[in-house]
Amino acid sequence: MSIRTLDDLLAEGVSGRRVLVRADLNVPLDKQSGDITDDGRIRAVLPTLGALVEAGAKVVVCSHLGRPKGAPDPQFSLRPVAGRLGELLGAPVHFATDTVGDSARSTVAALADGQVALLENLRFNAGETSKDDAERGAFADQLAAFGDAYVDDAFGAVHRKHASVYDVPARLPHVAGRLVLREVEVLSKLTSEPERPYVVVLGGSKVSDKLAVIEALLPTVDRLLIGGGMCFTFLKAQGLEVGTSLLEKDMVETCRNLLERSGGKILLPVDVVVADAFAPDAAHDTVRVDGIPSHRLGLDIGPETVAGFAAALSQAKTVFWNGPMGVFEMPAFAAGTRGIAEAITKADAFSVVGGGDSAAAVRALGLDESSFGHISTGGGASLEYLEGKTLPGIAALEN
Ligand code: 3PG
Ligand code: MG
Repeated sequence: MSIRTLDDLLAEGVSGRRVLVRADLNVPLDKQSGDITDDGRIRAVLPTLGALVEAGAKVVVCSHLGRPKGAPDPQFSLRPVAGRLGELLGAPVHFATDTVGDSARSTVAALADGQVALLENLRFNAGETSKDDAERGAFADQLAAFGDAYVDDAFGAVHRKHASVYDVPARLPHVAGRLVLREVEVLSKLTSEPERPYVVVLGGSKVSDKLAVIEALLPTVDRLLIGGGMCFTFLKAQGLEVGTSLLEKDMVETCRNLLERSGGKILLPVDVVVADAFAPDAAHDTVRVDGIPSHRLGLDIGPETVAGFAAALSQAKTVFWNGPMGVFEMPAFAAGTRGIAEAITKADAFSVVGGGDSAAAVRALGLDESSFGHISTGGGASLEYLEGKTLPGIAALEN
């Protein structure tokens, strides 16, 4: 990799220089209270920010949060993130109430050496995500004016061809931050020569999101375990009835084809927890997959499936896990995800957890993060990396 790193930048000296850091501070917020429910992505960027503060840089942090539509939208404000970031850094973070306007300009201009500013949500500006190169470029010009150098530490966003990720590094001296470096180092182990057996666990709700990665992984992995909402489209492809479970009808044929070509590598659930409704207190039972009642829906994998998946995981030397096995946010449907997560921690394997949801599940279930080899901050980004796609944010750093 011909990428310059934060250490290269620090070696040049950053004292008194403005360093623009693209971070992925896209954290989950509680719908009612607006509180941050998982601050993992904020903590993940602290090593980079801490090093810059220590070295006396004027640190200007920018990020997106959620998917606002190119205009200010208070429910997606980064203000609560500025508060939490300040607590974690142990020093106040100066918050700009716009991204490239008067507030941003005066906030950046007022920074003293070793101080940190956070700009308001990048996606409050249409230029950030625009498909039009000129529109993105014009926004990138405004952002780039806030830095003498650029650090990309937003691993979760490197798969996006957005102004702050792709166009700003073309305008400033640019380096990869500590988080981006670590993520790429770990994921490249999975794509180059994973120690075998290499077992991948995929869950989450949509098969269509995972098709490309399944295609890409099939030749490489020894076992592919499939749970979560997406398993019902595969069960349907096996000719089973899935009741009112999540089903992507137009994917059934594709799943059948994948199963035929998988050489027996794909393992599907043998039992599932079915419920009367998608609700925490819904009546529920465990049934065999060939006995799913027509009026009920599957919300978790069953105990026999957990045992079978755990047996495969116990042999593994390398594990990649993306996507929960069930609706883990509801205690009645959390056992599958918990069981698989525990099986991964018990395996004598190098394990990588990819994806915001799986990482949040690990923390929400109270599991010890340090018993996993690596917890990626990128969901889509880690999947696209494993698919072998060119990631715009990484490509931009290589140039
Ligand atoms: C994520 O949460 O996956 C990243 O922050 C990227 O967000 P996006 O999918 O809205 O681009
Ligand atoms: Mg995403």
